Amino acid sequence: MERRNFVKVVGISAFAVSSTGFKLVETDGIISTNDPTSTDMLGPFFRKNAPIRHDLRYDGNTSEIPLKVIGKVFGTDSETPLSNVEIDVWHCDHKKHYDMDSDAFKCRGKLFTNENGEYWYKTFVPPPYQGRPKHIHYLIHKSETHQELVTQLYFKGDNKIKRNNWVKYPWDEKRILDIYTNADGMAEVQLDLYLELI
Ligand SMILES: [Fe+2]
Repeated sequence: MERRNFVKVVGISAFAVSSTGFKLVETDGIISTNDPTSTDMLGPFFRKNAPIRHDLRYDGNTSEIPLKVIGKVFGTDSETPLSNVEIDVWHCDHKKHYDMDSDAFKCRGKLFTNENGEYWYKTFVPPPYQGRPKHIHYLIHKSETHQELVTQLYFKGDNKIKRNNWVKYPWDEKRILDIYTNADGMAEVQLDLYLELI
């Protein structure tokens, strides 16, 4: 069975087409799909030209939980890792502010997947703001092999996540991540991404 994209849902027919046209297949109450990672809004705070870096933390932030984010990027076959994929990540700082103009590009970074399709960065769990859940923005840039993906990462247990609001469809659930402690004793989440191939 595929590693990704399965969500327990009760009471759905064996085959269904979602409102976005993706095919859902049910096997013993498990919904699976071959769909790419679901999208989310870009929001108004994206900036181009963020520096390439693996650490988005900064001096002066001691109020939030240090966090490592890891993940692997695949094509929609769920098996082929995609290397050299360009990813922008960004989130608000500990004062709920997005750095839109400083040269520090605070809480922003550009990443590229390695030969195994892996990416990682260190940051902290951003605070919620303006009624939104805690979240980290992703822009995966289009290449010759895959389509662009705009999405967001959320955290399990965040009571600001409202059903039928930020998370509308069953497969959005896989972007709501468990925080666990890694071998280095650091809080960690894993967001694997599945890109639509060209
Ligand atoms: Fe945001």
